[in-house]
Amino acid sequence: MAKDPVRVLVTGAAGQIGYALVPMIARGVMLGPDQPVILHMLDIPPAAESLNGVKMELVDAAFPLLKGVVATTDVVEACTGVNIAVMVGGFPRKEGMERKDVMSKNVSIYKSQASALEKHAAANCKVLVVANPANTNALILKEYAPSIPEKNISCLTRLDHNRALGQISERLKVQVSDVKNVIIWGNHSSTQLNGEFISTVQQRGAAIIKARKLSSALSAASAACDHIRDWVLGTPQGTFVSMGVYSDGSYNVPAGLIYSFPVTTANGEWKIVQGLSIDEFSRKKLDATAEELSEEKNLAYSCLS
Ligand code: NAD
Ligand code: LMR
Repeated sequence: MAKDPVRVLVTGAAGQIGYALVPMIARGVMLGPDQPVILHMLDIPPAAESLNGVKMELVDAAFPLLKGVVATTDVVEACTGVNIAVMVGGFPRKEGMERKDVMSKNVSIYKSQASALEKHAAANCKVLVVANPANTNALILKEYAPSIPEKNISCLTRLDHNRALGQISERLKVQVSDVKNVIIWGNHSSTQLNGEFISTVQQRGAAIIKARKLSSALSAASAACDHIRDWVLGTPQGTFVSMGVYSDGSYNVPAGLIYSFPVTTANGEWKIVQGLSIDEFSRKKLDATAEELSEEKNLAYSCLS
């Protein structure tokens, strides 16, 4: 029997990640080749015409799984009934900026969209925040949407995770599909930890901005699909992935931050992988990225007051 369609919200859908992401979702890359979808696309009024152009292209692509498209600048209409919300809307950093430099522009978006999601999304909606600073935007969304279960709110560090896989594959000349279980700890920022590839992975976003004069889009869209696919459909046996999730104090990371951990997923739920040994070097990095996230949290509240 055909499955009921899943409603997937993409905010900032007229932007460059949105343009790469919506066809992936409509093709089944995010939720599987037998899962019909209805896309909800939100952008702001100055981007309305462009958003309508994206809708026209989705129609023209004749995706068999795509059962409907809502393209709107109304946040309530966009959020109504959605089962999955991919929050991309916001402003990207430019060359020479850190991701937290876009905080003052972006964090207020997450405060206001939190209540629309809380009131109008489907019960048990899963939320992925992509817009930077991703961890802190997700935390603000969580704090201003107290009735959304904290386990349902996450941020994207899968792009860093995939970048680490890609670097290992290139350097060791092995297939990327033969590399697994790297870990991104903490913030999607230049304090994250990733084994011996730290600086390349930390600075990859900046390198892409320098090369393209635009921040990453196809890899970000693809990572967002990987994040949601694994969350909904489960990670393969023996494989863990990185997700920014609400800290429960595991690995002595302060509770109350959205922090990237190694997780496994099953039945639509993530679980932090426990018992990994953390050496002294890693401990310092885990603590530094937690400290940065606490500072970002304070900065976010000062932007909102
Ligand atoms: P973009 O400027 O091309 O697109 C962003 C879109 O968001 C625009 O169409 C804009 O009109 C829209 N927007 C702005 N305010 C909005 C609001 N209140 N509601 C809905 N839409 C709104 O930017 P992009 O390259 O697509 O990047 C989007 C965000 O994702 C940026 O913050 C970027 O830094 C971030 N990003 C994160 C990761 C990650 O790994 N976490 C990776 C790449 C990019
Ligand atoms: C990335 O990692 O590519 C994104 O977060 C965009 C950026 O500003 O680096």
